Amino acid sequence: MKIAVLPGDGIGKEVVPIAVDVLRTMLPEAEYVYVDVGHERFTREGKAMTNEDIETIKKCDCILFGAITSPPKKCYRSVILTLRQALDMYANVRPFKSCSISPYKVDFTIYRENCEDLYCGMEDVSDDQVLSTRKITRHASERIARKACGHPGLEMLTIVHKANVLRSCELFRDVCIDIAKKAGVPYEEMLVDAMAYNLIRNPSRFDVIVTTNLFGDILSDEAAALIGGLGLSPSANIGDRYALFEPVHGSAPDIAGKGIANPIAAVLSAKMLLEWSGHRAKAEFVQGAVDRTISNGILTPDMGGKFKTEDVGLSIVKHLESQ
Ligand code: NAD
Ligand code: IPM
Ligand code: MN
Repeated sequence: MKIAVLPGDGIGKEVVPIAVDVLRTMLPEAEYVYVDVGHERFTREGKAMTNEDIETIKKCDCILFGAITSPPKKCYRSVILTLRQALDMYANVRPFKSCSISPYKVDFTIYRENCEDLYCGMEDVSDDQVLSTRKITRHASERIARKACGHPGLEMLTIVHKANVLRSCELFRDVCIDIAKKAGVPYEEMLVDAMAYNLIRNPSRFDVIVTTNLFGDILSDEAAALIGGLGLSPSANIGDRYALFEPVHGSAPDIAGKGIANPIAAVLSAKMLLEWSGHRAKAEFVQGAVDRTISNGILTPDMGGKFKTEDVGLSIVKHLESQ
């Protein structure tokens, strides 16, 4: 297997090496292809990612991604958005599962449509007004709904939208209901504002959530807070041909360079890579090593500990090697 490794910016460069150590332990035969993309490269060379980089990435089986700084700038488009669209990775799968020290007991997964909505890049900009197009299509709504309905062990699908205001959401909602009915999946629907509320009020009631791109982005940071923080939340961007695995978090400029970033979100993203590539038992080993590291109190400051990124990484790899 050939894995493209894109550490990116800020703490991406600190947590990805730990995830690579884990993958090297579990998949010693895999080949790792490093590609330097992101805002730091943009500042240095005027380009965040070239077409050549995209071709190199496309020659790999999958991608391990760190995080990229995406400042609001006219001429800059985030590398992760370009990749999601160029590689048609339409399903952003974000599991939120409590660990032994999480503030709430939850176990749910957000399926976020990953290629359209306000992220479609259609913006009409003038000095005094900007019109941003919210594009929702039947095709994209169908394929994310199908992915969500195929979630292993699904008990209840929550379709999140704002169809009381937006016609685009009405289409998304109708398509999701149609697919859920055809799949014989139990479903409910919830307006996104009520969802933001209920996620805090009663988070353990949720199982599988399907929603549009921007709502999914916002709800997933909220969900991360329920399990103990962004440092614990992994994700997968899945298409029919390509897949990219990355933490939900960003480049965290406030802690970058201090060696204290929590690498668990990146390590669990590597676990999702193992699952996706059919190495289920190895994926479970990784989860076990993370769980033991947490219960032994080897925690970074975001989880109330005083350990460094490196210490957490060493502990996880030590548990993997002793299994
Ligand atoms: P962020 O996710 O980088 O950080 C939010 C907060 O969570 C910060 O206080 C940070 O210190 C903390 N945090 C995040 N990850 C952590 C970890 N692993 N360990 C410990 N603490 C952690 O969000 P932000 O500060 O709003 O964004 C910073 C930059 O990252 C922005 O330019 C944004 O566009 C970008 N971003 C990129 C991605 C991506 O590339 N996939 C995702 C989100 C944000
Ligand atoms: C995420 C991030 C990205 C998004 C940004 C960096 C473009 O917040 O992956 O959650 O909005 O999708
Ligand atoms: Mn986000």
